Amino acid sequence: VPAIEFRRLLLGWYREHARVLPWRGIDDPYATWLSEVMLQQTRVATVIERYREFLTRFPTLQALAAAEENDVLALWSGLGYYRRARMLHRGAQFVVGELHGEMPRSAAELKALPGVGDYTAAAIASIAFGESVAVVDGNVERVLLRLMGLPEERTGAGRARITKAAQSLVPAAAKRGVGNPPGDHNQAMMELGATICTPKSPLCLQCPVVGLCRTRGEHVTPVRQKQRSR
Ligand code: ADE
Repeated sequence: VPAIEFRRLLLGWYREHARVLPWRGIDDPYATWLSEVMLQQTRVATVIERYREFLTRFPTLQALAAAEENDVLALWSGLGYYRRARMLHRGAQFVVGELHGEMPRSAAELKALPGVGDYTAAAIASIAFGESVAVVDGNVERVLLRLMGLPEERTGAGRARITKAAQSLVPAAAKRGVGNPPGDHNQAMMELGATICTPKSPLCLQCPVVGLCRTRGEHVTPVRQKQRSR
């Protein structure tokens, strides 16, 4: 895939068509962290209102760190996976208590925080701090497999290949803040997977990178799909 062309088409599409969501267009790494933790296992539509409520009650890392765990968990109701809330709370206490309230800025350092794995670390580092690091979730993986015409391979080597391909497409590091190219690129990849390059009936006619795609709706990820009847 020609990376420069791919990035240009993807970013152009994203900047014109991206959904307006409350965690976009903000310059607050804590809020980015909160949104990505909520979005890990919960649908966008559900997250929107809970994200707003959470930030109203705990507007800063300091406010969250000082909270009682039960009050944090109460605000998580409806989102499920309460462990995420506990880890976020502990993470806030760690940053406030041990790091003078300053969140780490690189994905490598962010992974030291409770509950922050590869996905969340890459999302925060790119969106909030402009690091050139790829976010790979299920949506992004599907987009890349189709783009490159590769079969789904649930092995370490398969995952590594996807991560490498994802990384080769991310723009160079940029200044921290809203709309930086690496952060927008990663969000655009997730957005493309969520809204266009969907599992069952991808909307290839609306895809900004259809001209670079090896499969164009041939559904190369049959493992998760029912066979179409003939
Ligand atoms: N899914 C998880 N995080 C996302 C983001 N920042 N944009 C779009 N989809 C997401």
